[in-house]
Amino acid sequence: MSIKEVLRMGDARLLRQAEEVPVLDTPQLHALLVDMRDTMRAMDGVGLAAPQIGVNLRVVIFGVDANPRYPDAQIVSQTVLINPVLTPLSDEMEEDWEGCLSVPGMRGLVPRYTHLRYQGRDEFGALIDRTVSGFHARVVQHECDHLDGILYPMRILDMKDFGFSDVLFPGTKVQDE
Ligand code: NI
Repeated sequence: MSIKEVLRMGDARLLRQAEEVPVLDTPQLHALLVDMRDTMRAMDGVGLAAPQIGVNLRVVIFGVDANPRYPDAQIVSQTVLINPVLTPLSDEMEEDWEGCLSVPGMRGLVPRYTHLRYQGRDEFGALIDRTVSGFHARVVQHECDHLDGILYPMRILDMKDFGFSDVLFPGTKVQDE
């Protein structure tokens, strides 16, 4: 088990186009996923992309478990998604607040496609093909943006909708993605 440093905005490694994973189910890939899970858990995150720990591969993880403190939060099954392909299912977009482990302490209002199909593989090579909407779709788009060097502040339409979490939402605990 190994908790890795999460790169923060300003680090040029977050701006790269990540590379496809050529071979699945390798010891190196499984070791990467152990590090990613440990790091995401340690940071209490909703998702993490490999480039955020300096590994320039098209690998993301995400998931939200049931939490009695947030009974209304949408549950997203814990997912490993490799070499993802995202297909918006309509032009409909909606704005909502996002945070990011690479942009700690901040929140911004970001437009995302509401309805989305995503495909890819898990670490063992099994096919993943899901149609999702709302928060689940948002998390996938946020994480996969990291694979193309895009951080959520780049998608904020009006920079007035960007600020510190504790100022925007005083007294609320908010999770980073
Ligand atoms: Ni992020």
